[in-house]
Amino acid sequence: MHNDLYAVVGNPISHSKSPRIHSLFAAQTGEPVEYTAIQAPLEEFDETVRDFFAKGGKGLNVTVPFKEQAWNMADRRSERAAKAGAGNTLYQDADGRLVADNTDGVGLVTDLTRSAGVSLAGKRLLILGAGGAVRGVLGPILAQRPGELVIANRTVSKAEALVALFADEAGDTLLSAIGFTDVTGGFDITINGTSASLQGDLPPVTTDAVTPATVVYDMMYTPGVTTFNRWALDNGAGKVLDGLGMLVEQAAESFYIWRGVRPETGPVMDELRNN
Ligand code: ATR
Repeated sequence: MHNDLYAVVGNPISHSKSPRIHSLFAAQTGEPVEYTAIQAPLEEFDETVRDFFAKGGKGLNVTVPFKEQAWNMADRRSERAAKAGAGNTLYQDADGRLVADNTDGVGLVTDLTRSAGVSLAGKRLLILGAGGAVRGVLGPILAQRPGELVIANRTVSKAEALVALFADEAGDTLLSAIGFTDVTGGFDITINGTSASLQGDLPPVTTDAVTPATVVYDMMYTPGVTTFNRWALDNGAGKVLDGLGMLVEQAAESFYIWRGVRPETGPVMDELRNN
């Protein structure tokens, strides 16, 4: 049978789990999907995307460092991508226009609320970091109506800029920006959205960020326990989750956008975790 072509574009791309995840989705749903990985040269992202669709490709996921470029080159953006300032999902509409969507935030919220059984409504949330990854998930988090959302960052002005950008989506949520050393306790959920661990660092946040009652969520994923989650456990966190669930859930949302079919994510998470 003829398969529809999809791919993830990034640089580097060899370690991406997306081809495996989408192949598992295709096998599970019976959708005729073939999904590969494309390493775009750093200066040739737009050409790579245009070439892929010109050759009949149906949809792309976009990862580091091209998410902002995907957003920029799109003819149209979903509302959630517009606010995120980045796109991780591309496809063409019926008129052949390039559409950018962003499923990262929905992926995080779905993983927290469904897989991990944690509701965000009314909760006190601390999010560490104020870069692109955090901006990408703030809209869907605020849509869950947490009671309070504190954004802590090394560069406080960047956290303040995000608070200003999302003020109109905050509703009744108390939204604020602080530095890492000003974090004081009592959070229900602490999310690490910094890239500190890529440099072998930890965000220098006070240990008040984690208590036995705090659910700690590291948006990063590495096999075993992530650097941040190890720190959190060593400092008394009750429960830690890593970004594998988010990775699978954002992929499922992309698959749904492209195919109109929702794969089951639980078996795919188990498969990735165990093999
Ligand atoms: P990403 O797309 O991963 O969000 P980014 O936009 O460069 O990448 O943002 C990186 C985030 O991790 C920022 O919040 C950054 O803090 P600054 O805004 O102060 O730069 C944070 N970060 C990166 N390395 C860090 C480190 N070693 N310690 C603390 N925070 C760090």
